[in-house]
Amino acid sequence: MARRKKIYEGKAKILYEGPEPGTIVQHFKDDATAFNAEKKAVIEGKGVLNNRLSEFFMTGLGQIGVPTHFIKRLNMREQLVRSVEIVPLEIIVRNYAAGTMSKRLGIEEGTQLPRPIVEYCYKDDKLGDPLVTEEHIAAFGWASQQDMDDILSLALRVNDFLSGVMLAVGIRLVDFKIEVGRVYDGDFQRLIVADEISPDSCRLWDIETGQKLDKDVFRRDLGSLTDAYTEVAQRLGVMPRNQQGVTKPTLIN
Ligand code: CDP
Repeated sequence: MARRKKIYEGKAKILYEGPEPGTIVQHFKDDATAFNAEKKAVIEGKGVLNNRLSEFFMTGLGQIGVPTHFIKRLNMREQLVRSVEIVPLEIIVRNYAAGTMSKRLGIEEGTQLPRPIVEYCYKDDKLGDPLVTEEHIAAFGWASQQDMDDILSLALRVNDFLSGVMLAVGIRLVDFKIEVGRVYDGDFQRLIVADEISPDSCRLWDIETGQKLDKDVFRRDLGSLTDAYTEVAQRLGVMPRNQQGVTKPTLIN
């Protein structure tokens, strides 16, 4: 088999050239990083779980008419996605205060916010993804006013969808991050949800116990990350309860 061309390797994923123009293979690694890669570990099975969970969320979003880059899952660790021009922003939606918002504004973690709050960070690891305003985004030309309207509407639709899906299985969606990308259809360009949606990029708390079921388990040394992600996958029916060991890193290409 011909060797695939690697396009990009990030902290948690590798992107390969896809089989057709305009497609990309997104490979989920087991690498976990936090605090802008100051803390690192390899967590067996994380990539398999995130591949499945991202497939689940992106497919659901597609079904309610929210456009995403997801085409199909290829194997345990890989999915075929549309290639996009990534908008250099991390779009964060918060329903409850946590993490940097709690630190920055002195609001106790877990406080419900008066309404969902959308924040933008400039995607630049060297700078630690700094928080920016719409003024910065417009002035530096990272996105147009039309793009910002579309991004806000996508972010809020994703929030409503994910909040509902999680609530149904007893999980509170505290906050999450998405990335969006530009695709061109003839003369038209539009924005679609790209990258991944997984417990690596969400805060998920059990509604009853408050137990954390997301990457904070790794950031704050709260136990097994794969157990937490497996719990989310099992509650959502993405992984059967009795199928232990399915998250072991079997590479099927
Ligand atoms: O995660 P941290 O406390 O550093 O930052 P935050 O601004 O409180 O993060 C808000 C949400 O966005 C959390 O669910 C993070 O997991 C997610 N996020 C992410 O996925 N990637 C980033 N580079 C920053 C935040």
